[in-house]
Amino acid sequence: MDKVLIIDFGGQYIQLIARCIREQNIYCEIYPWNASIDKIKQFSPSAIVLSGGPHSIYKEDAPKVTEGIFSLNVPVLGICYGMQYIANHFNGVVKTAPSREYGKQTLFVNNSPLFNGIPAQNICWMSHTDYIEVLPKNFEVAAYTDTCPVAAMQNEEQKIYGVQFHPEVNHCDYGKKVISNFLFNICKLIPDWKMSDFINDTVAKIKAKCGNGKVLCALSGGVDSAVAAALVFRAVGDNLICVYVDHGFMRKNETAEIIRVFREERGFNLIAVDAKERFVSKLKGITDPEQKRKIIGEEFIRTFEEEAKKIGKVDFLVQGTIYPDVVESGGKTGVTIKTHHNVGGLPSVVDFKEIIEPLRDLLKDEVRTVGKQLGLPDSIVMRQPFPGPGLSIRIIGEVTEEKLNILRDADFVFRDEIEKAGLSEKIWQYFVVMTNSLSVGVMGDYRTYNYTLALRAVTSVDGMTADWARIPLDVLEKISNAIVNKVDRVNRIVYDITSKPPATIEWE
Ligand code: XMP
Repeated sequence: MDKVLIIDFGGQYIQLIARCIREQNIYCEIYPWNASIDKIKQFSPSAIVLSGGPHSIYKEDAPKVTEGIFSLNVPVLGICYGMQYIANHFNGVVKTAPSREYGKQTLFVNNSPLFNGIPAQNICWMSHTDYIEVLPKNFEVAAYTDTCPVAAMQNEEQKIYGVQFHPEVNHCDYGKKVISNFLFNICKLIPDWKMSDFINDTVAKIKAKCGNGKVLCALSGGVDSAVAAALVFRAVGDNLICVYVDHGFMRKNETAEIIRVFREERGFNLIAVDAKERFVSKLKGITDPEQKRKIIGEEFIRTFEEEAKKIGKVDFLVQGTIYPDVVESGGKTGVTIKTHHNVGGLPSVVDFKEIIEPLRDLLKDEVRTVGKQLGLPDSIVMRQPFPGPGLSIRIIGEVTEEKLNILRDADFVFRDEIEKAGLSEKIWQYFVVMTNSLSVGVMGDYRTYNYTLALRAVTSVDGMTADWARIPLDVLEKISNAIVNKVDRVNRIVYDITSKPPATIEWE
């Protein structure tokens, strides 16, 4: 099978390169820039892509790939820093550009197999401070912009290519075509990889690794852990033990759905721990958001630990780590806005030999595709992002049973109305917040003094930034009426019209 190796120089778009290649039915893997030549040879790539990155090649600490990568007789495509790396390696000159280029730029292309079928003038996406001032010997200019004389270069004989722009980014009009030209026109790869191959290969690898060993998985109800568990279940069946901790802050019917899908329909060995009282009592009197998050995170670990002890020694622990988690945990700096809670903190409390992370190389939408192909229902696979501490951080102030019940019912109505309006796929996340404000209203000639609920709906690509969703006013009106009519103790609905930043998506 033809395989592409992507060398990671720390570029922010690297997972987009991987997706773009996999979408074209070519298998690829990402290796760090310092991977050894032996490891690279072992992978036996049919083509290599050198990614972008934040460095300047002429600085001392610039990352450099292992010697020998250009002697493998494999076509190479360098993107941004990757191209500058190639230029520097073959004795060209890379310098700070007199004018930096960020965003959309007009690209003029020369005759090159990279640009087959692409208009001579088109729009590309640039993001660079350095540029190639002098081409290396035996290379020629394949494209340029008004301010970047080498926007693409090539050495056709050695099959080494470079682009200064980012073909993997959506805003690059013909980016996908550039990558497909590289894969098929230049490298002559055969597109015979499918997501079902990923499933079969991964299941085979897990089978070989786990043998008859016991495997433990913390199911959170989220997409990633569910799909990871379903893959491992296919490989080891009853040897997989899943533990689901119900902290009591799940949405309406969610726990029942998880038990139905995994235990009843699929026959998983699923331990569902009802820890509602334990969590609610721990949160008594707590109003500070960070304290809530910390208490829930700790209590979750403790509950899991108790269950794991009952099971005894396990050989493997499954984690639903996906590619963006890998990137985030490697490169996260800065201040804590919120302490995120998920099941990532488990290894230290479980006695096991090895971690299995079957989704480590996949992006969210690819995880969803795998989940669908494994037959998981949309209720699991298309689930919105949901915070680890659940509804507790959507209740401002103290969490009480009453507030939880009101929120659960109102959230259910909101989601139902959004689905009925056909908007569910257009909005990244939509939910209700219990605001902790009581206000005066009038219902059937009576004065009411009831809760104010806030609707939160945002559009986003990755949750890092978000905009409030422009839900049509008549839909908002329907939602407001439906909630007030169906849910007791609510007499006022407001709509949150702040983006992130300055707000965050969740209120706490
Ligand atoms: P914020 O509120 O920080 O949320 O804008 C960004 C995205 O992260 C989700 N979120 C969490 N996810 N554990 C998670 O796994 C958490 O503790 C957590 N808190 C927030 C949030 O729903 C949004 O999608």
